[in-house]
Amino acid sequence: MSKFMDWVDARFPATKMWEDHLSKYYAPKNFNFFYFFGSLALLVLVNQLVTGVWLTMSYTPSAEEAFASVEGIMRDVEYGSILRLLHSTGASAFFIVVYMHMFRGLLYGSYQKPRELVWVFGMLIYLALMAEAFMGYLLPWGQMSYWGAQVIISLFGAIPVIGNDLTQWIRGDYLISGITLNRFFALHVVALPIVILGLVVLHILTLHEVGSNNPDGVDIKKHKDENGIPLDGIPFHPYYTVKDIVGVVVFLFIFCSIVFFFPEMGGYFLEKPNFEQANAFKTPEHIAPVWYFTPFYAILRAIPDKLMGVVAMGASIALLFVLPWLDRSPVKSMRYKGWLSRIWLVVFCIAFMLLGWTGVQAPKPALTLLSQVCTFLYFAYFILMPFYTRLEKTKPVPERVTG
Ligand code: HEM
Repeated sequence: MSKFMDWVDARFPATKMWEDHLSKYYAPKNFNFFYFFGSLALLVLVNQLVTGVWLTMSYTPSAEEAFASVEGIMRDVEYGSILRLLHSTGASAFFIVVYMHMFRGLLYGSYQKPRELVWVFGMLIYLALMAEAFMGYLLPWGQMSYWGAQVIISLFGAIPVIGNDLTQWIRGDYLISGITLNRFFALHVVALPIVILGLVVLHILTLHEVGSNNPDGVDIKKHKDENGIPLDGIPFHPYYTVKDIVGVVVFLFIFCSIVFFFPEMGGYFLEKPNFEQANAFKTPEHIAPVWYFTPFYAILRAIPDKLMGVVAMGASIALLFVLPWLDRSPVKSMRYKGWLSRIWLVVFCIAFMLLGWTGVQAPKPALTLLSQVCTFLYFAYFILMPFYTRLEKTKPVPERVTG
């Protein structure tokens, strides 16, 4: 075996890569619950790729046959229903895991110097993931697939001068049709998975260049032993590979329970109108995107002017990109930040969840008011951040990790 590895290593740096990224990658020893979600995101990514490839074997990307082919997968293809439900539940699980992963970033200031690029690559993954989920949702060619895409694509029409031409260019037709379905299929199955995989590699490479942050937000590279190994670091493999298995087992237990017993999740994971084939002549009573998009959809609807709504929705995502430069705090972790940062993080999370809730509801004046207040708070969290992070009194950060 060692002779074989010598042969490989002389031609490809397999052992070096194993050591650099696993057996000699020193991660802080105080990772907690929130640090499970990076490896879980990788797990869900693999699930989506594998089940996606097998679904593609039986799916037909045409307006005439798409809906029936998905029905065929559910009823006739061996293990087809499990494959499809693993994939549809996987989409929601992806966003749950990624939202928890991002929340960890906010909690421990993981986006701060020197991890700005880790965060920016993460945000690019998030954007690509939203595009991937949006396009995948058209493929079953149900009523909500069709009308959801109709609403979102028509938003581009609000852009002055080029709006109408742009929507037509995206659809490839005067309305959503088989042509749109074909191009979304190509992007969903080939182009975006490649982009996402590439971005994930860049995300991890940039992280391993600077090293992981931790719940204390202290730099473990400041204290090293005589061999140059951080005193508060432990090799990622075997310590965290084994620890992550615990997260994987718990996750799979919950995930499989949903796949087998509640795959529709009360209409949140698989929306009820999508059990009916797309019909361009029949608009569903109430059109709402899937739950993971609804916070942004609620921001869009909170603003009465369509163009300004689109601008606000774009800005709400753009602000997340520049977060590393908005946070001026001298400390990273919420453990040592002041009360203002803590209160604003809680306010932001509540506002985000309430926006998600109002986004699925049919519009009512009281709900519109609520989403306007939450939109205001969402933006205030970011816009005021340079001020409250500089003004507040922080606690002294320990030299070494505390556990
Ligand atoms: C497919 C999606 C993603 C995958 C597979 C992924 C994977 C990972 C992995 C394996 C780690 C190292 C382990 C850990 O710290 O949990 C990590 C760290 C990190 N990720 Fe992601 N990630 C994804 C999306 C995102 C997104 C959307 C963001 C934020 C916009 C993000 C921000 C970060 C940050 C800031 C770190 C460093 C955390 C620290 O050191 O404290 N990631 N990611």
